[in-house]
Amino acid sequence: TSDKTAMDVPSTPPPMNLTQDDLKRIAAYKAVDFVRSGMVLGLGTGSTARHAVDRIGELLRQGKLSDIVGIPTSKKTQEQALSLGIPLSDLDAHPVIDLSIDGADEVDPRLNLVKGRGGSLLREKMIEGASKKFVVIVDESKMVKHIGGSGMALPVEVVPFCWKFTAEKLREVMEGYGGCEAKLRLGGEKGKAFVTDNGNYIVDMYLEKDMGDLWAVSDAILRLPGVVEHGMFLDMASTVIIAGELGVKIKN
Ligand code: 5RP
Repeated sequence: TSDKTAMDVPSTPPPMNLTQDDLKRIAAYKAVDFVRSGMVLGLGTGSTARHAVDRIGELLRQGKLSDIVGIPTSKKTQEQALSLGIPLSDLDAHPVIDLSIDGADEVDPRLNLVKGRGGSLLREKMIEGASKKFVVIVDESKMVKHIGGSGMALPVEVVPFCWKFTAEKLREVMEGYGGCEAKLRLGGEKGKAFVTDNGNYIVDMYLEKDMGDLWAVSDAILRLPGVVEHGMFLDMASTVIIAGELGVKIKN
């Protein structure tokens, strides 16, 4: 349930002088320790998940893993996995996934997440929601007291049709949960809208305050016609691996 309490597993010895990318790689490699031959794996998206996919490819090449089927959460990850020779499939063929590994933008003490600043939240939520185990990999900068409270965006995938209307509805709904500014994400060709792998747009909600009841916010957002999915991943993570200057922590 959403009021589960995360359990700390003691830290491993401190690594020294590490970059943020080193921390991402350390968390990713630790997550790949959970992978066994024969598993169907959800392959995440982003600079942290990328290290996990590389590692899986490496272990397959070395013959230390076999019979893996990867289910990529984005076209980008699909390309990466194909270049590494990881056999791929999809949710239609594999509706139950053994293990998914992915990064996150924010993680709260109850292991609720914000995801989607890379724009892949819909496929991530479908695939990670179909996983028996979902391991989240982050460096310590992603840990927050309240998700959406860090002044960063909470992404919402919307259909392009009359996206301004949907963005305004999102802003109105969020008035009941502390308020937000709702902005279309740019980054497509010639400064146009960013387009997701599903042909949709992203409206980034910049929150003014903590949202309070996250499930209530989730329901309210999902009730809006025009909204496809939002980037709050509530009660979905089984384990979070956090790499920091003082070592690696695992929260279950
Ligand atoms: C993409 C995501 C990513 O997992 C999230 O943005 C974290 O990315 P990174 O590991 O690059 O910080 O949700 O949609």
